[in-house]
Amino acid sequence: MTGIERVCKFLAEAQTYYLATMDKDMPRVRPFGTVLLHEGKLYIQTGKSKDVSKQIAINPKVELCAFKDGKWVRVAGELVNDDNRDVKVAMLEAMPTLKAMYDPDDGNMQMLYFKNATATFSSFTEESESVEI
Ligand SMILES: Cc1cc2nc3c(=O)[nH]c(=O)nc-3n(C[C@H](O)[C@H](O)[C@H](O)COP(=O)(O)O)c2cc1C
Repeated sequence: MTGIERVCKFLAEAQTYYLATMDKDMPRVRPFGTVLLHEGKLYIQTGKSKDVSKQIAINPKVELCAFKDGKWVRVAGELVNDDNRDVKVAMLEAMPTLKAMYDPDDGNMQMLYFKNATATFSSFTEESESVEI
């Protein structure tokens, strides 16, 4: 399994991760669950109308954290907007419950992928391990 595959699997199994953004000089954090590995990139999904999206547009540097079975992963990097319709369709196919809220052509659905990101796996019992994704 490649590093990015490991990160996607961990996030999918954890089900929920917490995404931190910057709102001027104030950190903001909220639960997220969307994750998609598409053409070698780690994508997450949101709505352009949300504050989280507006914060990322101003400052794309984010960090997320998920915890599962005594281990946690942090992914720190930059998010890049991708308006390609195919990736929106792929996200809705991977997580069909999103279809109740989003449509690829609604002008709101937003796909973002990580660029220049580092994923760090940690636990209380083992040394931390970082992978570039
Ligand atoms: C378990 C869980 C998973 C969620 N996953 C997402 C997600 O992947 N994308 C998203 O935009 N909102 C998701 N939400 C909703 C956001 O947490 C919520 O809209 C939040 O208010 C967005 O942050 P903001 O208020 O700073 O814009 C999820 C909520 C929960 C409880």
